[in-house]
Amino acid sequence: MCGIIGYTGKNDAKEIMLDALELLEYRGYDSAGIALLGEEGTRIYKRAGRVKDLRDLCAKEDPKGCCGIGHTRWATHGGVCDENAHPHRFGRITLIHNGIIENYRELTEKYGLEGKLASETDSEVVAAVLERFYDGDPYSAIRRTVLKLKGTFALAILFDDQPGKIFAVRNVSPIVAAATKDGAILSSDVAAIVPFTTDYFVMPEFHVVCLSADGIEMFDLSGDKAQIDWLKVDWDVSRSSKGGYPFFMEKEIMEQPQVIEETILPRIKDGKPDFSEEGIPDQILSDCKRICVIACGTAMHAGLVGKSLIQAMIGIHVDVVMASEFMYNDPIVDKETLVIAISQSGETIDTLEALKFARKCGSPSISIVNVKGASIARASEYVIYTNAGPEIAVASTKAYTTQLAVLYLITARMAMARGLWSEQELADYVKELSRVPRVMEEVLSQKEEIHRLAGTILNAKDVFMIGRGLDYSILLEGSLKLKEVSYIHSEAYASGELKHGTIALITEDTPVVAVVTQDKLKSKELSNIREVQSRGARVLLLIKENEVLEDDERFANVFRLPVMADAFMVMPASVVLQFIAYFVSLDKGLDVDKPRNLAKVVTVE
Ligand code: AGP
Repeated sequence: MCGIIGYTGKNDAKEIMLDALELLEYRGYDSAGIALLGEEGTRIYKRAGRVKDLRDLCAKEDPKGCCGIGHTRWATHGGVCDENAHPHRFGRITLIHNGIIENYRELTEKYGLEGKLASETDSEVVAAVLERFYDGDPYSAIRRTVLKLKGTFALAILFDDQPGKIFAVRNVSPIVAAATKDGAILSSDVAAIVPFTTDYFVMPEFHVVCLSADGIEMFDLSGDKAQIDWLKVDWDVSRSSKGGYPFFMEKEIMEQPQVIEETILPRIKDGKPDFSEEGIPDQILSDCKRICVIACGTAMHAGLVGKSLIQAMIGIHVDVVMASEFMYNDPIVDKETLVIAISQSGETIDTLEALKFARKCGSPSISIVNVKGASIARASEYVIYTNAGPEIAVASTKAYTTQLAVLYLITARMAMARGLWSEQELADYVKELSRVPRVMEEVLSQKEEIHRLAGTILNAKDVFMIGRGLDYSILLEGSLKLKEVSYIHSEAYASGELKHGTIALITEDTPVVAVVTQDKLKSKELSNIREVQSRGARVLLLIKENEVLEDDERFANVFRLPVMADAFMVMPASVVLQFIAYFVSLDKGLDVDKPRNLAKVVTVE
């Protein structure tokens, strides 16, 4: 979704902003633009298309200036065209916006803006309202405007008569800011800040920040100076580059052993899972009567694996709710419900809103988040960070498996807190969890074999993925991955449900991916596989390497997974499914990292 950058200092703002917009491309966008505030006044360059098109546009005039704002737009209000691209200008005001202004129609009417706006966007209306209130005091204009807005917004604003200054304000939609060697920078995303500094802060909601070459000042809406809470990014710039791989998705798949280790190891002390660094009291894990996981997409699929683990090992009820549906089902959460919010970005608006609702109901909460200081992390009572480093590919891979790693740790700590396991059981579990990185490396070393297997579904129009229990949960994620990056229609189906209708769709042209990793489900799953084979389907099977297949001549395409305890087989199987999706997309010649219409960070409902 929309990316925001602002820079002011002693250097060429245009180059800094264009480079930053390229770093923000992964968020998903359809137009890009910059505005420079310099000696020649405010100059705007914007167009529908890629950042490289914007770069070409700027190259023609090579505008100079040391203060500017830049934006990548993911269209919500108004189609994809040059006029609707940001920055927007009205009178003396130029701004960029991320979020949705819900009452923009009322504001248009109230301030008589009909026929005076150049675009169809809600954002331009904000510029017009700011212009109306601007009397030379930017703080007062921003304060008065913000009080009129309904909705979500991250705004970076230039005032024609305030040279060298960028003002910003936000509600829900994120803005991070930092001081650089010779000025200051702000962005929707830490990724754009990392090339300059590792120290940054997350702007609090309803505060006004002013960036200048002298540094950063922040005020609350009553005009009182506010203190800045600095954070440190714990990844370096190299983590944000492709490191020799053709796509970030491949790099991120390959990084999994390392980042899983970095997620697990600091949280195992004396051979036991430990959340003392996070300050999580055992009581929160021992006293809850049920758990409600809220998340979207891949993060929700991680939650489904967590549900299987916790219900099987702890014996308490776990609901996994799509955050985007949470509010529409009269959610039942209370003080006895531990809410676990899972999110890579920590900014997914549906997850954030659901979490806020649950907290109002008195639920204790833990979030599992990748991006430090993100809104979901701040909105929850406790946070466990996945140490996955920046995830740039839209398709989530390493964030998913590190989320799983945290869920394995939570399960074990919960068992400890409730006195459910013997010392030996706990030790065996931790030992198996610690094996995950090495087992994953084993799978990754067979990448070429997975590439060959991916070729068996390359030309398919539809793919089914079948399994039961944990295998089904893994396949929901595997299927999402394939759809996302290859555009092949794929459905994960609980194999027992096939006979209730969907088996009618199985033909010799419908490849079926089957995962069989759970001893207790194996015979039923193999029967279901035979059923689809009888209807002509070609099956690509993922099964443990020690399993004997009685009629193995039926299986031309089998991937043998390294053996782990059943509860952990999710990890090696997931890597194979991620690579299948990746190679299909690669061999189709698609833009693997930036699938069409998708955004990495979903900050609008
Ligand atoms: C995953 O491949 C997708 N890009 C998507 O489903 C994602 O997991 C979802 O939008 C949730 O994002 P979050 O983890 O940042 O909250």
